Amino acid sequence: MSTKEILNKNNIPSHVAIIMDGNGRWAAKHGKARIFGHEQGVESVRAAVEAAGEIGVKYLTLYAFSTENWGRPTEEVNALMGLLIQAIENETEKLNKNNVKLGVIGNIEMLPAVVKGKLMNCINNLKSNTGLNLILALSYSSKWEIINAVKNIAASVKNGEIKTDQINERLFENCLTTRGIPDPELLIRTSGEYRISNFMLWQIAYSEFYFPEKLWPDFTKEDFFEAINNYQKRERRFGKTSEQIEG
Ligand code: IPE
Ligand code: IPE
Ligand code: MG
Repeated sequence: MSTKEILNKNNIPSHVAIIMDGNGRWAAKHGKARIFGHEQGVESVRAAVEAAGEIGVKYLTLYAFSTENWGRPTEEVNALMGLLIQAIENETEKLNKNNVKLGVIGNIEMLPAVVKGKLMNCINNLKSNTGLNLILALSYSSKWEIINAVKNIAASVKNGEIKTDQINERLFENCLTTRGIPDPELLIRTSGEYRISNFMLWQIAYSEFYFPEKLWPDFTKEDFFEAINNYQKRERRFGKTSEQIEG
């Protein structure tokens, strides 16, 4: 029996975010070049998208490329960009069939023009879909996003659009690239690394964290359901006491 069958349908997180880590180590383990691990990682992306759709997760954010990842060897960066183009070309039809809508967060101006073009095209082709919202974090940096928000707010104060005392959490959130998207209830990072690596620092203030040991290319649909199952066993207290939550 799949773990999917035992999940509580009334407690599915609306937003799951995944830091997909471990492709390079997976490749090394199999005696292959790092890019082979990234290629294999695309299979796990497919699995996670399917699994999320099947149980009614509304938003799935996948951290695919960080701003810091631009500092990797040029050939790896180029191979990753190539893989991204290939994945967009190969998957758009299936995503459309599955009613998936695509979004992107990050500094996409840094992406090569051809990647950005394909991406925007794909987003446009899927824009009327009403099922899972798949969000790719590409050239993403949470600190970059926060600084941008601060700059926008400062400009609005300076030109008189808003007053300083109107700055609140809601206003700030609306200046982030994730505006309109609920904060992730669950954050998964694969590969046994226990860090955030500049991902959604604001948005994960109250997320539940799940750190499976598996390397990303080994992550399956069943692993995704297991993460949800683990999440469902937790008590989210938001600063309150257990008694208050139960009562
Ligand atoms: C995650 O796998 C994919 C990206 C960051 C693009 P890594 O490439 O970081 O794999 P490891 O951490 O070196 O094993
Ligand atoms: C984080 O993974 C970024 C992505 C998964 C895209 P990294 O492998 O780049 O993170 P660090 O540098 O090991 O923290
Ligand atoms: Mg890594």
